[in-house]
Amino acid sequence: MIKRESWATRLGFILAAVGSAVGLGNVWRFPFQVGQEGGAAFLLIYLFFVFLIGFPAMLVEFVIGRGSKRNPIGAFKKIGYEKWKFAGAIGVFTGFVIMAFYSVVGGWVFRYAGASITGAYFAEPAVYFSSISTGYGALLFHAVFMLFVGGIVYFGVRRGIELAVKFMVPSIVALLALLGIYASTLPGAFEGYAWYLSPDFSVLAQNWTSILPAAAGQAFFTLSLGMGALITYSSYMNKDDNLAVDGASIVGADTFIAVLVGFVVFPIIFTMGAVPGEGGPGELFVGLGGAIAELPFGANAFGLLFFLAVFIAAVSSSISILETIVSWLIDNFEIDRKVASVGISSLIFLAGIPVALDMNWLTIFDDLAALILLPLGMFFLVLFVGWFYKEATEELSKGMEGSRIVKIWLWHVRIPILIIIGMVLVINFNSYIAEYTGIDFIEYVLSIF
Ligand code: PHE
Repeated sequence: MIKRESWATRLGFILAAVGSAVGLGNVWRFPFQVGQEGGAAFLLIYLFFVFLIGFPAMLVEFVIGRGSKRNPIGAFKKIGYEKWKFAGAIGVFTGFVIMAFYSVVGGWVFRYAGASITGAYFAEPAVYFSSISTGYGALLFHAVFMLFVGGIVYFGVRRGIELAVKFMVPSIVALLALLGIYASTLPGAFEGYAWYLSPDFSVLAQNWTSILPAAAGQAFFTLSLGMGALITYSSYMNKDDNLAVDGASIVGADTFIAVLVGFVVFPIIFTMGAVPGEGGPGELFVGLGGAIAELPFGANAFGLLFFLAVFIAAVSSSISILETIVSWLIDNFEIDRKVASVGISSLIFLAGIPVALDMNWLTIFDDLAALILLPLGMFFLVLFVGWFYKEATEELSKGMEGSRIVKIWLWHVRIPILIIIGMVLVINFNSYIAEYTGIDFIEYVLSIF
């Protein structure tokens, strides 16, 4: 039996989980989701999902992880509910889907760090982006990204992951804050803030079937929920600290960074006269890249630092996904960590090839993960912990004995959360079916009234 690893300190765990949460989801995905879904109204629904659904759902994963000290598939057997291991299996599969496109975007980021030194994207940001985002170059940098991620997981929990994440959170906050100050001096700043912060509820009333699931998907994605990454990380806890406090710090840090990114990106977009959301997956690169190029001085150094920080954030998120898959191979099959890291990284590289060669696949993989797989995985985890896992409240109580939060949490998980995630799934499956068959059940039912 291979001896199982653990975090060296509580802070190590929290930082690793923050490292998992803060990533391309905050810096790259969040701004174009806000843009596409109509701004402040989306932001509000997103915050609702983060705090009222995401935070308690995070505790669901922690309870399974710390309670079992196993990977998301092995966990269920260890705590005596083997029938439920399919829920963990959905998670491990989701990990592959996410990594396949995440790594391609991570490769773009790495390339932008280098291109900041030479100024390659300064003259024509949009042209540069389209020239590097697909094709063999993108494939090469996808490989480079997987090499970094695989390399860290190869070295294990303490020497690899815990060490790597310690530098990331402070550096990304500092750089974003600087960019935020710069953005506030731009002529479009006020327009950007106004668009970002004043909700237009008529948009919400009209587009709720797209805003609601998009906000839920973004909340799960950015908090690393629904695929067992946080089951895995909490399984390496060896002391019974207060999970609610840990969870609140992680959710708080992640949300702070996402909201901050909005304060950077939207002033820039309005200053350039662009329309938020229209840039899609290229928005960050074209928009922010263009703004960096126009900095009065130090554009090269600033670009380099910024994209490096985003790169580190992307790597530290990817580690948690790869680690989830790797820990399953180690726990359940006693495969050597080194062999597992190299093998799975190579498989992910293969899965990402279509994405690197054709950007349509990026959207397909991304939608599949955020709109279907993450909510689906979360639905079963919530169902399990709320109604079947008898020891759940006992596990959450450790480190917060006698707290009323535990009871409230249980009932919140049992009914409201389950219903809301269920609704999100129904809407999303309906949209999928509608897209491929043209039959929209929800619209049909609503039209009766
Ligand atoms: N939370 C990460 C991000 O925002 C992505 C992620 C999703 C990581 C799911 C782990 C699990 O970039």
